[in-house]
Parts: sequence; structure tokens; C-alpha cells
Amino acid sequence: MNIDLVSEIKCDIKVEFVQKETLKKHKLYKTLKAAGFGAEQDTICFLHEKKVLVCGVEDESNDNARSACSVAIKALKGSNYKSASFAVNNVNIASVIEGVVLGGYEYNEYKSKPKKVSLKNIYLTCKDIAKTKDAFENAIIIAEATCYTRDIVNMTPEDLNPPTFADLAKKLAKENGLKCEILGEKELKREKMGSMLAVGRASRHDSKLIHLIYKPKNPKKVISLIGKGLTYDSGGLSLKPAASMVTMKMDKAGGCAVLGMIKAASEMKLDVEVHVFIGAVENMIGGNAYKPDDVLVARSGTTIEVRNTDAEGRLVLADVLDYAQDKVKADYMFDFATLTGACMVALGQYTTGVMGHSTTLKHAFMMKAANESGELIGHLPFNRHLGKLLKSGIADVSNVASKPYGGAITAGMFLDKFIRDENKDKWLHFDIAGSAYTDAPWDCNVYGGTGAGVRFMSSFLQSVK
Ligand code: BES
Ligand code: ZN
Ligand code: ZN
Repeated sequence: MNIDLVSEIKCDIKVEFVQKETLKKHKLYKTLKAAGFGAEQDTICFLHEKKVLVCGVEDESNDNARSACSVAIKALKGSNYKSASFAVNNVNIASVIEGVVLGGYEYNEYKSKPKKVSLKNIYLTCKDIAKTKDAFENAIIIAEATCYTRDIVNMTPEDLNPPTFADLAKKLAKENGLKCEILGEKELKREKMGSMLAVGRASRHDSKLIHLIYKPKNPKKVISLIGKGLTYDSGGLSLKPAASMVTMKMDKAGGCAVLGMIKAASEMKLDVEVHVFIGAVENMIGGNAYKPDDVLVARSGTTIEVRNTDAEGRLVLADVLDYAQDKVKADYMFDFATLTGACMVALGQYTTGVMGHSTTLKHAFMMKAANESGELIGHLPFNRHLGKLLKSGIADVSNVASKPYGGAITAGMFLDKFIRDENKDKWLHFDIAGSAYTDAPWDCNVYGGTGAGVRFMSSFLQSVK
């Protein structure tokens, strides 16, 4: 599907937005009324003879425009029309692009007979192209980077394992002119990453640490983006119940998201230096699996009592965060991880949880970047009482809290143990356990990976001064 910005065009069908209040003034009001169309949000009415698709919107908000466009594109893809136009004079162009590109996304790689779609060309029509062009191009880059992240999240654990994850990163580096360094198990041993290595020990795939770099000429800031890349999380010896294991290919979504973010930053040619670090590991069972009761020595020297092998993401991130802090003196450090089921309990499955010490940084996301991008973010506050629950009788820290409540926060506070004092206010942790994957469509998301994080982080990177 091509998408273009033009000043005027004749297409097979034209998409129009109508609000309840103005419905009566519509030139085709009688026909719309006869068809039972009341301009409710997310309802549509095809007027085939007039070559118009009318979409109801509640108001002029970006959220409603994005949602209406998602409904429209699905209907258009089910029709025989080959081209369609959307007028974007009075709506936010990024919201239209998000609705069309993300709402129209389908992943068909594993279908032997994917259904054919007639729709080939989408045109966004706008009076002042010169003024809108940059916004159009950036929104397309961000939407496509989100689709790229979705594509790799949706890959099966057989196709996307730690070594193939590293290959994918190398390919992206080559295409986008990024630097790329991959550490295999030999190098991870040399780095003394005992925590990350333990998690991947029972896998037949070698664990990999992926480091990608986008370095523009005069960067305004240096940013490290760290991703949890569990290509499969069986739970390890603390095995997940069968039903909870299904979808655990998505435990790599943090790693996939940071790849999408560096893709977008490099294609928008932003003046920010971006470092991506991914811990790509598979958590499996076997005779050589790491065990509850083991004590691991992390790269930082901190000793960790393993009480649950299913709390593996934090063990991988402990070493990757430590490595990232040694490699790069970053102005900001953000990690993305499908870290806890508890985050979904706390915030619901649509919202990303944000944790960290800096109120200013948290607000930058919650008030601005997330609002602008249409992603949902909720704050989960650290506190010292929950922190005490990570105490271990035998090691410096336990990998799980002694009480089950506040699990997203205790996981975040575990990560905090590996953030050095000088970086405390530069770091935020994003728990995307709920928001990264969906079994039912919502907003502009469809079944499978959602690409959570890519839009709000791209929006933040664009705003960096
Ligand atoms: N990958 C899971 C978290 C998860 C759960 C992500 C559901 C997406 C959907 C993580 O590794 C995990 O298993 N966490 C445990 C932690 C517990 C053992 C303290 C959890 O959330 O149950
Ligand atoms: Zn787990
Ligand atoms: Zn996990």
C-alpha cells in the first residue's frame, strides 16, 4: 500500500469525517439518515454511488481521528476499491497516518494464502503541501518503524532467536548506516555477565548482546535505549502454566521496540546520538538450566539470589544496564521491557508503566510525548517499603520480592540496584508487558505486536534540545 501527500486527486473513493453536530448540514444528509448513520464515533457509511465513505467522529481530537481512520482503512481493505483519498486540512496529519498505516497493518508471513487486498494507493489531500510535507514524512517514518517492530515481535521463537535477532540488527545497521557490535557468550563471559548468562544457559541458542549506534555529526544529546530481548520465556524451571506460556514470544518486545526507535531516529536524521543495547536470550528448561536457590554474580559484582527463574528479564537487564553505563556516558537512559504481569494488574493492558527517580523526566513523557503520540503511559511510584521486600538472606538481593503486591514496582526497584548514583536521575524504566501485545484490536492496534514505545520515544527524541 502506497501513501502519498497531494493537493488534489480523483480516487475510486473519498473518505470524509462527520460529527453528530454537523451531520444535518451534510449535503448527503438525507441518504445518510436513510442508511441509519448517526455519525457515532467509529461508525461508517459507504455511499458507493457518490464514491464517498463517511466516518463518524465524536470531536476533533487526535485520538478520535486516529480511531476513525483505523475503522475506515479496515473497511476499505475489505472493498474492491483500488485508491482512496483522505482530506487532512482540518485534522492532525500524524493521527491520520497512524490510523491508516497502523490500523491497516496485517501480519501475513505465516499464512499460506493471505487474502488479496485491492486497495493499492492512499492519498492524503491538503491545500498547503509545503507546510505539511515534513510532518507527513516524519509521521510515515515513525509509523513504518512501529510496523517494523510489530513484524519482528510477531515472528515465531523458532525464527527469531538470539542469533537471528543479532542478524536482524546487523541488517538494520547496514541499511541505515549504523554501527553494530555483537557480543556472543565468549565475550559475555569475558565481561563477567553472570546474571545474563545464567538465564540463557539451557537454551540451544547462544545468548547475544546487541549494541547499535546512530551517531550524527553534532548531536544535541546522547541517549541509551536498553531492551529486554527474551526471544522466548518458558519461565525456566519455575515453569509457566501452559496457558501463560502462549504469547511468550512477545517477551522480546522491548528489544524489538528499541530497534524500531533507532530506525526512526536515523531515518528522520535527528540530531541525537542513539545507542541501543539489547539482551537477546532464551529462557528454557534442561539439565543445565539455572535454578531457584542459585546465587549469581552480576557484572556489577552484586550477588543475586534466584528465587524464581521466571523473573529472568531483570537478571538480563541487570547486566545489560551495567554494561551500557560503562560503554556510554549518556544524558538519558531508558529501558523497555515486558517485565511483569503485575504491571497489567496495576494499569490495565493498554498502558505502559513508567518508573524512575526523576519527576521531570517522567512528566516529559506523560504530559507530552505520550499525549502527542497517542500512546498511554501511567506512573508507578517507587517507595522504600517495597524496596525492602527484595532483601535476601544469602545474597545482596533477591530476584523476586517476598510479597506479591506491587510486583511491577519491585521489579523496577530491582533494576534500580544496577543504576549508578550519577545516573539515577537520567534513567527511566518502561514496563510494556501489557501494551506490547494484544489478542484483540484496540485503537490503531491489531492482533499481535503493537510496537508499544516506538511512537512516544520517537516523539521524545524529536523534542530533544
Ligand atoms: N515476561 C514475563 C512478564 C509478562 C507476563 C509479560 C505476561 C507479558 C505478559 C516475566 O518474565 C515474568 O514472568 N514475570 C513474572 C515475575 C514474577 C515471577 C515475580 C510475573 O510477572 O509473573
Ligand atoms: Zn519470566
Ligand atoms: Zn520474561
